[in-house]
Amino acid sequence: MISRLWAKLGKSSSQAAEPFLTTDNVPEHIAIIMDGNGRWAKKRGLPRIAGHHTGMKTVKRIVIEADRLGVKYLTLYAFSTENWKRPKDEVEFLMKLPQQFLEIELEELIEKNVQVRMMGHKENLPSFTLNAVEEAITKTANNTGLVLNFALNYGGRREMLEAIKEIAADVQDGRLSTEQIDEKLLSSRLLSGDIPDPDLLIRTSGELRLSNFMLWQLAYSEMWFTNVYWPEFTEVHLQEAIHEYQRRARRYGGL
Ligand code: IPE
Ligand code: IPE
Ligand code: MG
Repeated sequence: MISRLWAKLGKSSSQAAEPFLTTDNVPEHIAIIMDGNGRWAKKRGLPRIAGHHTGMKTVKRIVIEADRLGVKYLTLYAFSTENWKRPKDEVEFLMKLPQQFLEIELEELIEKNVQVRMMGHKENLPSFTLNAVEEAITKTANNTGLVLNFALNYGGRREMLEAIKEIAADVQDGRLSTEQIDEKLLSSRLLSGDIPDPDLLIRTSGELRLSNFMLWQLAYSEMWFTNVYWPEFTEVHLQEAIHEYQRRARRYGGL
């Protein structure tokens, strides 16, 4: 049975609501490259960090909407292994965001049965950042709703290198034979571990690149790009992306 969710595509509130999202083909895993905070701020004559601050509010709205629509996994690219190259002040501000976000939102995330996870390299993260994230992970570990996976200090190439080194060590020590190395094994050794590959990748801000994000896992994901900057990304944009996803034919190389 196909039940329908009703949502408005148009901006005018007088416009009739039209059905366009089906609940039977909502992407199980959506990954988002949340980009454009700095340019959003610049456009308004504000410092870049104002964009990051407003972007945090978008995170809240999109988590709630993804959960409402029945998405099972939401991975958000919050900080890349390359973002350390930014000015010290900006990096410091970004490192404070997880703590700020969780201070305000953790209670509601718990109420909503959301399970918080982190995908990234723990070293180099300041202790206040890591402690806040780990507290959220612990407090939501038994939740069974939406998995909210923060990609924090994440880099796809580094993730693969580390998995390969780990596998090589296992082979060297006789814990694994080369014949046992297959796609499933490598997938399981990545930071995304037991999370299925993203069905849909969204990138905001008009950039058409992956920027070292989930290079292995995105092999067959559908991609959706928008010029909208992350701070102005809304629930309707998420619905639009899902709607577009639902119209695509995923062939995986077949017919
Ligand atoms: C995305 O916005 C947030 C992070 C990368 C942490 P940016 O800060 O990259 O914003 P732009 O791309 O410079 O506009
Ligand atoms: C990707 O955005 C990283 C995050 C969104 C966290 P960047 O702004 O760092 O990517 P580039 O530099 O434009 O490729
Ligand atoms: Mg950017």
